[in-house]
Amino acid sequence: MTVKYKFPANFWWGSATSATQIEGAADKDGKAKNIWDYWYETEPNRFFDQVGPARASDFYQRYKEDIQLMKQIGHNSFRLSISWSRLMPNGQMNEQAVEFYNGVINELIDNDIEPFVNLFHFDMPLAYQQFGGWENREVVDSYQAYAEMCFKLFGDRVKKWFTFNEPIVPVEGGYLYDFHYPNIVDAKKAVQVAYHTMIANAKAIKAFRKLNYPHSQIGIILNLTPSYPRSSNPADLRASKIADLFFNRSFLDPAVLGEYPDELIAILKEHGQLPQTKQGDKELLKNNTVDILGINYYQPRRVKAKEYLPNPYAPFMPDMFFDLYEMPGRKMNPHRGWEIYEKGIYDILMNLKENYGNISSFISENGMGVQNEERYIKEGQIQDEYRIEFIREHLKWVHRAVQEKCNVKGYHLWTFMDNWSWMNAYKNRYGFYSVDLNTMERKPKKSAEWFKEVSLNNGF
Ligand code: BG6
Repeated sequence: MTVKYKFPANFWWGSATSATQIEGAADKDGKAKNIWDYWYETEPNRFFDQVGPARASDFYQRYKEDIQLMKQIGHNSFRLSISWSRLMPNGQMNEQAVEFYNGVINELIDNDIEPFVNLFHFDMPLAYQQFGGWENREVVDSYQAYAEMCFKLFGDRVKKWFTFNEPIVPVEGGYLYDFHYPNIVDAKKAVQVAYHTMIANAKAIKAFRKLNYPHSQIGIILNLTPSYPRSSNPADLRASKIADLFFNRSFLDPAVLGEYPDELIAILKEHGQLPQTKQGDKELLKNNTVDILGINYYQPRRVKAKEYLPNPYAPFMPDMFFDLYEMPGRKMNPHRGWEIYEKGIYDILMNLKENYGNISSFISENGMGVQNEERYIKEGQIQDEYRIEFIREHLKWVHRAVQEKCNVKGYHLWTFMDNWSWMNAYKNRYGFYSVDLNTMERKPKKSAEWFKEVSLNNGF
C-alpha cells in the first residue's frame, strides 16, 4: 500500500473517552454522586429518551475486553478520565476505585497502549457543587488535593496528564446557556467559575512539578473553535475578534502563556464583570503553564457584527458583542447541527505555531456524531463511510500542518465506543465500536478497520 500522507514516527493514534460517559457502575463500589447523577435523578426529562449516566457503556466491568478491542485496531494511546467522585467520595481515598484505575492503567501499559489521563471531564462531585462548585475558591484546594492524590497513586506509570477537558463547557452549560447543572444564567458567576478553573489548573501543575516526574508531561484539553468573520468589514472583524477572546483565548492564553489577554480584561472591566482574585494569582498563572495542549476540534465559529443594538438593560452576556453567521453553502453534520470545516484544524495548529510558541499539541478529540446508525448496517457491520471521510479529510489538514512544522503529535477520535453523552444520552453515536444497549455487545464499525490500517501504516 502506498502511503501518501505519512505522519512523523511515534505519532499517537487512539481515541478519547470520559469516566461518566463510559464507566457505568455509577453507584457501585463506593462511588459518590456527581452532578450528572443528581441532575438526572431530579430532572430526567431533560435527558434524551430519559436515559441517565447509570446506563453508560459498562467499561467498569469490561475494561479488559475493551482494551483488547483497542489493541485490535492499532491504538498506541488512549484517553480516559478519572472520576473524582469515585476516587475520593467524601474527600477520602476509595480503595476500590484505586484498584479499578490501577487495573485499567496497568492493562493499557501491558498492551502497549499509552494511557493519557484526564482529571476532570465535566463531573463535579455533588458534595462540592453543594458548596458552589467552581464558584467557591475552596473547591480549588480540594481539586488540588485530588490531583495530587492521582499523581502519587498513578504517576509512576502515567506519563501524560491533563488537568481538565474543555473547561469552558461547564461555564457555558452551567452558568450561561443552561445545558449543564447547576443551570444558572449569570455571566458574573460564569467569569468567576472560568477564572477558578484556571487557578485550579495552575495549582495542579505546580503540585505535579513539585512531585518531580522528569519524564512526564502535564497539559490541558481545550475545545478550540476558530473564529471566522463574515467579511473584512471592520465591524465583522471586531465581532469575530471578541468571540475569539471569549471562547478561545479566555482559556488558551492563561494555559499556554500564563496570562489573560489585555483586551479581554478591558471588556470585562468596562462591564463590571472582573472576577475576584487573590494576591499571588498572577505569578501562579505565569509560573505554571502547560507542557502540552490537547485540541478538541469539532466546528468553527462564524461570526458577524450584531444586526441590532443589544438591549441596554439586558444582563451582560458574551454574545451581546456578536451574532453567529450561517455561511451559505457550509457543510453540515445534520445529526448534531454542527458545521464540518476540515481546514479549521489546520488554522488552529498554525495559530499555535505563530502565536503560542509552537507548543507541543495533539488532536485530543475530533469526531462525528450520527443518529440511527443501524440504517447503515450491511452484512452485520455499520458501513460508516461518512466517518471515514470525516477523519480522512481532517487528517489531511493535520498532515499539512506537520509539513509546515506545527508541533502536533497525535490524533485521537471521539470516541472509542458509542457512549452516553450528557443531555443527548445515546442520541448521537460517535464510536469506532457500536454498543448494543441491551446486551452491551461491542462491534467494530467499518471506520475501526480503516483506522487500524492508518495507525499501523502511520498514515494513509
Ligand atoms: C466534547 C466532549 O465536547 O464533545 C465530550 O469532550 C462529548 O464529552 C463530545 O461527548 C461530543 O459532544 P456530544 O454533545 O455530541 O456528545
